[in-house]
Amino acid sequence: MRTQVAIVGGGPSGLLLSQLLHLQGIDTVILERKSKAYVLGRIRAGVLESGLVDQLRAAGAATRMDREGMIHHGTVISYGDAHIRINFDAHTDKTVMVYGQTEVTRDLYAAREAMGGQIIFNVEDVQINGADTDAPYVTFRTEGAAQKLMCDYVAGCDGFHGVSRSTIPDAIRTEYEKVYPFGWLGVLSETPPVHGELIYARSDIGFALCSMRNDHLSRYYIQCDLSDSVDNWSDDAFWDALRRRIPEAHADNLVTGPSIEKSIVPLRSFVSEPMRWGRLFLCGDAAHIVPPTGAKGLNTAASDVHYLSQGLIQYYDTGETKGIDQYSAKALERVWKAERFSWWMTGLLHRFPNQSPFDLKMQQAEVAFLHGNKQAQAVLAQNYVGLPY
Ligand code: FAD
Ligand code: DHB
Repeated sequence: MRTQVAIVGGGPSGLLLSQLLHLQGIDTVILERKSKAYVLGRIRAGVLESGLVDQLRAAGAATRMDREGMIHHGTVISYGDAHIRINFDAHTDKTVMVYGQTEVTRDLYAAREAMGGQIIFNVEDVQINGADTDAPYVTFRTEGAAQKLMCDYVAGCDGFHGVSRSTIPDAIRTEYEKVYPFGWLGVLSETPPVHGELIYARSDIGFALCSMRNDHLSRYYIQCDLSDSVDNWSDDAFWDALRRRIPEAHADNLVTGPSIEKSIVPLRSFVSEPMRWGRLFLCGDAAHIVPPTGAKGLNTAASDVHYLSQGLIQYYDTGETKGIDQYSAKALERVWKAERFSWWMTGLLHRFPNQSPFDLKMQQAEVAFLHGNKQAQAVLAQNYVGLPY
């Protein structure tokens, strides 16, 4: 088998890259370890920056998003019973689109299938070979048979637990990591959202986030212990904990119901540099992770796809390698800014174990400063809607 760009991983990064390249006549094959149903069963991000929205439109995968997605012009930061509305329109010329990653992925699969794009599901033993030569190839097993996919380039879009990153020799790679001492317990419920905009809530007993998928589907998160398990949380216990973390006026309006999904994610900041080794490029979670506060994970994956697709399109159009040569540096420059913002939002809003009285006062002062200072709100707004590509 031969293709121009072998894409390892059929999550949002791999699918979007494949679609954008195909539209420019560049052939790709996607290798995905799981089944399509499994990938579509994962509930993840919910807020799309305008850069990703534009890319989905360019990819011809935005019809449903434009019909069903919700454009938000602001977000709310609450602390105790007080709140700050961050007005995007006052500080930026951008908005965000609230539309679930699950739906983005579903739309990208549909677009790929409509164009006859090749996606091989349930692949095993994926190995990237010869990435530092002119003739890279990917080996894998499908339905028990060994396969070899020859290519010009490999895009490692296989997430944090994929094989691409570790293909780059240790001597070449530097990893930067911070693991946070808490996780998020997330619940999806078929109930109307508590508020028309997202609420990022700081409280004395921990963080909470009120988000949504549509007018009848809500997504809520609360900070939890890393050692916690969803089995410890009945729906009633979750709703009680959420009510105690958000302003009373919202708590009184909260419509509760049975959860249809409940999961815990750990929080981590992580970057692996460089994002290129020879003919292998890392994209999205394969190269970096942010804590979800700030909604930057999926959006940062999308900016990688932007830089990489542009570089590859330039190469196949003109033979010029400038774009792909600059890929790692350009992607990382934006990645680190998203890392900073996500780390800052996490520090501002979470309750840390062993937080001293001084640390708490600093956190409270920072929120109070944000409340009273339009420039600080502008900085938050500009980062939240997404820095330019
Ligand atoms: P992924 O979505 O991880 O896709 C990688 C794909 O590669 C997967 O389909 C995987 O099955 C496949 N794969 C893995 N290994 C191999 C292999 N060896 N061979 C072939 N295929 C392989 N971000 C937010 O902004 N907000 C959130 O609320 C949020 N919640 C999250 C919850 C969880 C549990 C996780 C893990 C992430 C969350 N994120 C969130 C981050 C966001 O979902 C990711 O940044 C985004 O999914 C990155 O897309 P990706 O395509 O790079 O990686
Ligand atoms: C969602 C998740 C986030 O991490 C975030 O910052 C905003 C929204 C969500 O799942 O809706």
